[in-house]
Amino acid sequence: MKKIYTVEDARRLAQRRLPRMIFEYIEGGADDESTVRWNRTAFDSVTFRPRVLVDVSKRNQSMTALGDHIKLPVLLAPAGVTGLVRNEGELAVARAAGEAGTVFMVSIASSYSIEEVAAVATGPLWFQLYLWRDRNFIRSLIERAHRAGYHALCVSVDVPTIGKRVRDLRNGMTIPLRIGVRNFINTLGKLTWLREYLFGEKIILRNLKGIAEGNNAVSMWTYVIDELINPATDWNDFVWVRELWKGPLVVKGIMTVEDTLKAIDYGANAVIVSNHGGRQLDGLPSTLEVLPEIVKAVNGRAEVFLDGGVRYGKDVIKAIALGAKACLVGRPYLWGLAAGGTAGVVRVLDIFQEEIDRTLALIGRTTIDEVDRSAVHIRGL
Ligand code: FNR
Repeated sequence: MKKIYTVEDARRLAQRRLPRMIFEYIEGGADDESTVRWNRTAFDSVTFRPRVLVDVSKRNQSMTALGDHIKLPVLLAPAGVTGLVRNEGELAVARAAGEAGTVFMVSIASSYSIEEVAAVATGPLWFQLYLWRDRNFIRSLIERAHRAGYHALCVSVDVPTIGKRVRDLRNGMTIPLRIGVRNFINTLGKLTWLREYLFGEKIILRNLKGIAEGNNAVSMWTYVIDELINPATDWNDFVWVRELWKGPLVVKGIMTVEDTLKAIDYGANAVIVSNHGGRQLDGLPSTLEVLPEIVKAVNGRAEVFLDGGVRYGKDVIKAIALGAKACLVGRPYLWGLAAGGTAGVVRVLDIFQEEIDRTLALIGRTTIDEVDRSAVHIRGL
């Protein structure tokens, strides 16, 4: 892990280690990826207002997220079929999250099951749900997550249909992989990945075992897209989940004040301002841009998190200054996973922690609570 000093270093290593189709599955956004770019460039519009000659010899970035104690204000966002990146997938991520002291949010489309991930986790887990068509299936997942000790439930609301991910279409990305001639040549150079792919666990969507027909993920994936994703889902379904789940409830994929207010009215304890890392509706603004109005509307009635384009500790501090409680990251930990399994994810989280710590010192703050709107300028304002 010595060669990884920044999240971008982890990305470069991931690119070297992964076949193109997997690297681009992580990297890609929808359409021409405008929103992916804007998620990054938005951070350039926010600059710091440091205070000097403040005693910053003792600094502490630990906090709670929905009551879970975390050592840094960075949580791991849900990502589907992580086992494609590294065979041990979510198991490695759960171990890393525990070691680094943060929350791992496990996707409904995980390659290992709710119970398998819980069995190896040493830190808090949250479970992410899509409101798919089959209510019995969704109810059983909610019950399983509760029994397995997941602390919070998160409903992602930004996938009434799948975004147009052009790179995946060009690469012929499916699950399980079908490695055509072009991809085969590219895969040959990625020996560690190839060995795990050939000899490791078969990567399927294990939460769907016994639900979708067949025992491989081709049928499962087709089943998800054709049968489970439900464009008719509405707030009534969310209310139904709220009645079933007694613990903290999160809504992920909110981008407007109107929907934020609805989510809170219907019982959400937290919202994640997210455009799905630019993978769903291209043309959405950056999450940082809409964060302040959402924080204002929430007015302290729920916790507000942000994800999308967070790559440096300084980005986390900027989002917190604009009102986020903490940030989530997706691609950064998947790059860490590709670069070095559990140790790679821990390394990425350590980088965030170190950069947040350094930024706190340099802006003259000692805790996250002290990071408020006075810590930043917004360019042009
Ligand atoms: C995701 N994301 C996602 N979100 C979700 O709610 N359920 C899911 O199963 C997935 N799957 C998924 C796979 C991959 C490969 C990526 C990159 C992302 C979105 C994710 O939770 C998060 O919102 C974004 O990744 C945040 O943006 P950054 O940090 O990747 O820029």
